[in-house]
Formats: sequence, structure tokens, C-alpha cells
Amino acid sequence: MTTHSVPTVAFDPVDQAMRFADFPVYDEIRAQGGIAWSPSHGGFWAVADFALARLVTTDHDRFRSGSGVRIPPNGTPPTFALEYDRPAHTVHRGILTDAVGPRTAPHLDAMVRGHARRLLATCTGDTVDLGGQYAFRLSLDVMFDLIGAPAHLKEEVELLAEALFLYRRPLPDGRDAAARLQEILEEMVADRTAHPREDWLSSVVSRLDDAEHALSEREVHGAIVALLVGGHHSTARTTACLLARIASEPDLQALLRAEPGRIPEAVEETVRLQTPLRWFARTAADDVALGGVTVRAGERVLLLYAGANRDPQQFPEPDAFRLDRPKGRAHLGFGWGIHRCVGMPLAQLEIRVAVEELLAAAAVVEPAGDITWTSSTEPRHIPCVLR
Ligand code: HEM
Repeated sequence: MTTHSVPTVAFDPVDQAMRFADFPVYDEIRAQGGIAWSPSHGGFWAVADFALARLVTTDHDRFRSGSGVRIPPNGTPPTFALEYDRPAHTVHRGILTDAVGPRTAPHLDAMVRGHARRLLATCTGDTVDLGGQYAFRLSLDVMFDLIGAPAHLKEEVELLAEALFLYRRPLPDGRDAAARLQEILEEMVADRTAHPREDWLSSVVSRLDDAEHALSEREVHGAIVALLVGGHHSTARTTACLLARIASEPDLQALLRAEPGRIPEAVEETVRLQTPLRWFARTAADDVALGGVTVRAGERVLLLYAGANRDPQQFPEPDAFRLDRPKGRAHLGFGWGIHRCVGMPLAQLEIRVAVEELLAAAAVVEPAGDITWTSSTEPRHIPCVLR
């Protein structure tokens, strides 16, 4: 860091209090010019200004992802595509785009809809939990189905993802989460090497022996993590946030019933407002002048997408949920630049289908108690009455 005076902020991305208390920090950073130095975890620049954050995401040569995008690192193999720079990133991106990109996602509609209907059919009690019984089941079922991952691992993978990638907390039984994830990845690869099937897992494992386009074992592990972990909580959280809003705002519910073509706008505004994945880091490859400070080569920059998405310069009345935003899709909830979420088409489809199927299954969706929020972006339990 430069020695002369720079804006500073006390921000620790793994502080559990930040699950509910991060928004005032973003305002504090924006009030100082949009970028500030945090001394946590060896020090990093925190960016909460929309224009600055987007600039960093598109300057791939000077702001790299290959040294990791998590502060502090979490001890897992680098996530495929996400934690690589070009040229490896381009190869990875192609493999993932084939699985979940814009040409493939529309063909997954029937599979996603089938899971949504099956789950809704189990929501029969006086009160149903649209978080635990529906949103958080749906994306897990979809990702396991899409990949061909063993169904008995669902609950464990969910716990591991929370321990390693989301909350950074120990497993309830005290085991080492990174070591257990590694074991699971090795088991999956060994199983599909011995018994290949017609699924995505087998196809990615077969790249280990591909004479021309081989992937290393580390890359194959990272690819499995990219879909298994990247595709679940992010989508589940957004779905749950939108369902909670639909249940508690009768006018919005009536509008989406009358004009289902507006559900995608509601999905996008939910991703902006709730920003389910709040921050990702880059590392500067050169000295770069950014928003009045100098980021030195080797320093890390944490892009606070949740802060950028509530930047009033970009989104007037940023805390309001509005369907008619002129720049509604130009948010950073899916990132931007070459690392912009490769699963975006699938996520958009899943959340839209979850809403469509819920509204088709019940003429009225009403709240039936307090929502349990695990973080300000995660309504885990949403008690409701469906009539
Ligand atoms: C609403 C749901 C989702 C949200 C909010 C979300 C958010 C994001 C964000 C912000 C990034 C950019 C990371 C960065 O800038 O470093 C990203 C990248 C990525 N996402 Fe998503 N994501 C969602 C759903 C999914 C799904 C369904 C999948 C997989 C099926 C997925 C897989 C990935 C992968 C592999 C990357 C890395 C892409 C690359 O580096 O080229 N995501 N996501």
C-alpha cells in the first residue's frame, strides 16, 4: 500500500457480523470515494462504487483472478474458470458454457419444471416453508441432476459449501471441511473413471485422459466445485428472496400473476437488490491508478458487488425494489467481463420457473409467520399458506 494517507475502512469479509451488517460499510466506502484500504487478512482494497467495480471486472490484464478470488483463501482447489486467467479461462469457460450457457439452458426447462412440480406436490401441510421445502431444495436437485452427482451427498455438499465458501465456519462435527470436500471429489472422479455414464460428471472426468485437450486432476476437481457449489446457494438465495417478497407483497403477486412476462424483471431486480454472492477479489498485475488511489502490483482488490448494486449514481433509490429500472440488467449481481456468471442463463431460468410453478400451484400465497433470515441475503425459512 502507498505510504501517504489513503481512505481506510474496517472490513473483514469473514466476520460473521457482516452477514447482517455489511450495507453501512459500503456507504462508508462510497462516502470516501468508492475505494478504501482494509487492513484485514494482510490488507486489501475494498471497492463499493459501481463504476470502479465494473472497470476492474473488465480490465482482465491488470486485475487477475488466477491468484484466487477469496479473501482469505479457503483451501479448496481453484474453482474452474473463476480462479483462472486466460488462456486456461477460455478453455474452462467453453466447457461450462456447453453445460449451462445460453444455448443449453432453454433445454433444461422441462427438467427444472419437473423438480419444481415434484417439490410443490410435497408442500401439502397447513403451513409450508417456501425456503427449506422449495427454494433451497430446487437448486440442489437441479444441480445434482444436471451433473449426475450421487444424491446421497446432497446434504453434506450443502454443509460443506456453507462452511467453505459462504459462512467460513467449521463443520458442526468439527471435521476439516476442505479435506472432506477433497475426499468427495476424489471419490466422484474414481467412480466415473471406473464406471462412466452418460452424464456431465463422466464427460468432464473423461478429459483427464483426452490426448489433445486434457485437464489436470486439479482442474477436474475445480470444475465439479464450480457447478456443484457455484450453482446452488446463489440460485436458492435469489429464489427464496423473491418468493418471500411475492408472499408478503400482494400487489407484486397480483402483478406477476396478471403479467407473467414481467417475472424476469423481478428476477433481475432481486439479483441486484439482494446480491446473493456479495464479493469477489482480484489481484493487480501492475501499479494502477484507481478512484484517487494507487493500487500497487500484487495488491488485492475486493469487489463489493452488493455495494456497487446499491450505488445511487447507477440506481436511483437503490434500496427500493422496482421492476421498471431503465438499467435493470446492468447490475453486478452476476459480475461483469470475462468472469460474468457462466450459470446466469440457468439461474434466470430456474428462478423464473420456480415463481411460475408456485403461482400456478396456488391461487393465493400468504405469509404464515416470521421469516428466518440466515443473512440479509438468505431467507432460509419462509412459512406460508398456499390456497
Ligand atoms: C442467482 C444465481 C447466481 C448468482 C447471483 C451468481 C453470481 C456470480 C458472480 C457474481 C460471478 C462472478 C465472479 C467474479 O466476478 O469473480 C459468477 C461467476 C460464476 N458462476 Fe455464478 N451465480 C449464480 C448462479 C450460478 C449457477 C447456476 C452456476 C452454475 C451452474 C454458476 C457458476 C458460476 C461459475 C462457474 C462462475 C465463474 C465464471 C468465470 O469465471 O468465467 N453460477 N457467478
